[in-house]
Amino acid sequence: MTSGELRKKYLEFFESKGHKVIPSASLIPENDPSVLFTTAGMHPLVPYLLGEKHPSGNRLTDVQKCIRTGDIDEVGDAFHHTFFEMLGNWSLGDYFKKEAIEYSFEFLTSKEWLGLDKNRLAVSVFVGDNDAPFDDEAFEEWKNLGIPEKRIAKLPKKNNWWGPAGETGPCGPDTEMFYWVGDPENIPESFNDDNSQWLEIWNDVFMQYNKTADGKFVPLTQQNVDTGMGLERTLAVMNELDDNYKTELFWPIIQKIENLSSKKYGGENIKAMRIIADHLKAATFILGDEKGIAPSNTGQGYVLRRLIRRAVRYGKQLGLKSFSKQISEVVVLMYKDVYPELFKNQKFIFENLEQEEKRFEKTLENGLKEFERGVDPFTLFTSYGFPIELTKELAKEKGLEIDEDKFNEELKKHQELSRTSSAGMFKGGLSDAGEETKKLHTATHLLRQALEIVLGEKIMQKGSNINSERLRFDFGFGRKMTDEEKQKVEDLVNQKISEKLPMQKIIMKKEEAEKTGAVHTFGDKYGDEVSIYFVGDSIETAWSKEFCGGPHVENIGILGKFKILKEEAVSQGVRRIKAILE
Ligand code: ALA
Repeated sequence: MTSGELRKKYLEFFESKGHKVIPSASLIPENDPSVLFTTAGMHPLVPYLLGEKHPSGNRLTDVQKCIRTGDIDEVGDAFHHTFFEMLGNWSLGDYFKKEAIEYSFEFLTSKEWLGLDKNRLAVSVFVGDNDAPFDDEAFEEWKNLGIPEKRIAKLPKKNNWWGPAGETGPCGPDTEMFYWVGDPENIPESFNDDNSQWLEIWNDVFMQYNKTADGKFVPLTQQNVDTGMGLERTLAVMNELDDNYKTELFWPIIQKIENLSSKKYGGENIKAMRIIADHLKAATFILGDEKGIAPSNTGQGYVLRRLIRRAVRYGKQLGLKSFSKQISEVVVLMYKDVYPELFKNQKFIFENLEQEEKRFEKTLENGLKEFERGVDPFTLFTSYGFPIELTKELAKEKGLEIDEDKFNEELKKHQELSRTSSAGMFKGGLSDAGEETKKLHTATHLLRQALEIVLGEKIMQKGSNINSERLRFDFGFGRKMTDEEKQKVEDLVNQKISEKLPMQKIIMKKEEAEKTGAVHTFGDKYGDEVSIYFVGDSIETAWSKEFCGGPHVENIGILGKFKILKEEAVSQGVRRIKAILE
């Protein structure tokens, strides 16, 4: 079965059940700050799930392009993707559990439709908790359709509850459908959620609650059905393939990578090839979207930047150079009939990919220099995005030893840190957001010093807040800054960045530290021993020095371009600057 046939069959089936086909929405959500991307077919339909009238009626079906970054660590296996297409059908206050399950069962097993073997089918339903009861209706319905009880798992919220996509919104219990993709001669009698050979292919969500900001589940006035079937997975199942990358939705990309690298899709190359294919496909769709996004250090653009850079990193492992455009060309050709926007926006897609790849090459080059100077693998990883595999290869070439245990230990600590610091926007998202906050922290020091020079008086920090996208610096100063002053501060910081000065740490006794003239933070308390971070070759000649616990980058040269977004009053005598690194 081809992907075109599968999309068509799905839509035709639901049309035959009175559903109207609606087009895929953009990957970039409209007026919704709770998520960065469209993560499921239901997402663009949220207002209608909450009771708004949909212009096409109350039975809808579509194929929706989706981006999920929550599973990024799993990308590299056979079935998880950043970009995927979701086949879905909706009842907006029309049919509910019984019909939804009947439709799913008929589409999956009827000879006229997918004709899958019902002896290889298993399902799960919601077991019930304080917020909502056991879903006996779904359980009974599956039993009626002939699914043995041992193949119906009753699972908690963690497994069988869907939504909301952000912190608040419509949600409810769901029932998931799994297909046995292991040996057909050896199908286990009972379903086991831990066995990945039971592959989840479809999810029917019964949206009957709205989760509110105070964490309550309030019953919705209208009972909805929201379903999602993974196109890539189901296509693999239909073609008896144990790997989505072997379906026509990926294979041409893999072949291109094979060609360019003169390596085969096998053994240790598999993971890198999958990640490259997955990430560059996702990047192509984000760039080529109706609301196309370019790489940046904020929001969607930041995710895009990470995807491209991660692909380039894995490309290096395969010996690839300047390859992202060639891969993307294949993606555009594969999808241009279904998603004409890719073809229309191809110039923008290719230009941005090439630019970002070049930018990253530069970062890697700088990292290489650091490596030659003896910088440790962990710093190379956090500050220059060098994967340990790459550092290992370099070390081998130079006949050096690397302490991998130490690296892994530090990595673990770092990940815990970055998980806490990136809570919020990147929750469940890309895990290396910690690197960005570190850069912004260093930029904050540069900003303070530049303010002192430009404004000509001692600048005391009154507050600092950093997330993975921007810094916010509060300082004591009696009036609004002029545009000229802001420009001067920006230029001075960028001037320093271009000088590629090192950022160093020194631990001293407090009395001694005070004599160096290093700046304190207003209201902070210090112990007998303090650490000072300074910019420059020595503490005596340092351009900036502050009492600070870190962490910071090792060299300010990697910060990129510093830009002030805003200067405003916080209170009498306190100003606030918001700034980013581009
Ligand atoms: N919204 C549901 C999901 O994404 C169908 O699984």
